[in-house]
Amino acid sequence: MDEKNIPGPRSWPFVGSLYKYTPIVGEYTFHDRDATSSKMYKKYGKIVRQEITPGIVWYHLFDPDDIETVFRNESKAPQRMLLEGVVEYCKQRNRSPGINVNGEKWKRLRSNSQKPMLRPRNVSAYIPLQDRIGADFIKRLRSIRDPETNEIPDLLNEFYKWAVESIGVVIFDKRIGTLDGNLGPDSEAQKFIQASNSAIDAMYHTTIYWPLHRGRATAKWKQLCSSLDFIWEVSMKYSREAMQKIKKGNVGKDSSILGSFLSDPDISFEDCLALSTDLLSAGVDTTSHTTAYLLYHLAANKKSQTKLQEEIDRELTPGEAITAQTFDKLQYMKAVLKESQRLNPIVGSFSRRTEKDLVLSGYKIPTGSFVFCEVAVMCGMSKYFSDPDEFIPERWLRSESCQKQGDFHPYVFLPFGHGARSCIGRRFAEQEVYLLLIKLMQNFNVENHHGYIGRRTRLINTPAKPLKFAFIDRR
Ligand code: HEM
Repeated sequence: MDEKNIPGPRSWPFVGSLYKYTPIVGEYTFHDRDATSSKMYKKYGKIVRQEITPGIVWYHLFDPDDIETVFRNESKAPQRMLLEGVVEYCKQRNRSPGINVNGEKWKRLRSNSQKPMLRPRNVSAYIPLQDRIGADFIKRLRSIRDPETNEIPDLLNEFYKWAVESIGVVIFDKRIGTLDGNLGPDSEAQKFIQASNSAIDAMYHTTIYWPLHRGRATAKWKQLCSSLDFIWEVSMKYSREAMQKIKKGNVGKDSSILGSFLSDPDISFEDCLALSTDLLSAGVDTTSHTTAYLLYHLAANKKSQTKLQEEIDRELTPGEAITAQTFDKLQYMKAVLKESQRLNPIVGSFSRRTEKDLVLSGYKIPTGSFVFCEVAVMCGMSKYFSDPDEFIPERWLRSESCQKQGDFHPYVFLPFGHGARSCIGRRFAEQEVYLLLIKLMQNFNVENHHGYIGRRTRLINTPAKPLKFAFIDRR
């Protein structure tokens, strides 16, 4: 069938379906993409055609069989929707766009950079360093905790500090110092956190509304440039320091991810800088928001929290060194993270640009189309998960009698995407979150007396309300 027959919101001349996103008459919002996708699914069904602006069509996919078809037809260099603002920024500043490209350039960069990022032995070598950061974070929580309420002022910002520190040590072999004392608002580390927050917001805005920003000095374009300028400045400074250490022979090239990139003759110096900047900025909000939702669910599900604490207490004595094998023993912990990602994925939908004509749900989709894999909406459907609104980590455990992992359609739950273009930071992200979670559960009972933390899309999903979790000492 012709793709024009796919149901979807009506498109009007000049504005396409963007009128649907206007504050007064519109029923959709970019501020909560997953809620908008859910509305579209309920109204139009498992495939939705949206002419977002005249001539630019997005296809939203809510059927895992269609998503499987997309992935089975991927080339070795899958294409996704690029962050247009970032591409233009890099062009203007004459900088490498790093991994934010498509085609052969992406394939070359990715195949060289993913070795140190995804090789399990390489990732687990950073466990002792990252575990120490987890311990420092716990110390800091105790020192800034309100003695009356046990709550932490501006907890999300504290998670950002932990995340900058945890990924900084991996990329640059450097403790950035975000957890030392109180960072002033003008400190480099605090300004970096602000810049990375501000960058993702501006990246999202300039990508969605690119035609409005192209060639114009809009406020969001300026926000993008100033935040990326600062991120680049900091990243270049740390990169130079790391290079000096390597040159002087103080450390080996494999002591940091940047060192591995620099020692690879196939990665140019410019690309090394761009890649480390990409990783540093991608590694802050992602793990922080994931941890925020994870703690929200554990606080809301006391039984799961107790079960997790019991597992950790059983398998680890406090202070015992953690290794990659420790994680294998903590199967309930892994299930808890998955269940939290199912209910609150930070990336609810990700894109591909099709490289062949495809038939999806019976419609012919032409080569070069943008398709969105709407994983957040699928993860909430009862046809894929029993009691989909409930937090049930047991569903991921083979030993439990409820729905088991093998029962799931393999293209429904994809928190890190899928295939050659899936998340390059996945192993580091999981490792960091596990290490922190172990420490938090060993030390505290986490409570939340302020309800749901909400969701706002700013490139990735972000808690919409301040986090006011209480951390009550266990012993
Ligand atoms: C729990 C935390 C994280 C989640 C849920 C997450 C999720 C994702 C998803 C869904 C994608 C798109 C995948 C696709 O299109 O198939 C992605 C891409 C990416 N992620 Fe992550 N991510 C996380 C943490 C990180 C970290 C810590 C880093 C860096 C250290 C990172 C770096 C990247 C990069 C560079 C890409 C683009 C890959 C490419 O285009 O080849 N991510 N991530």
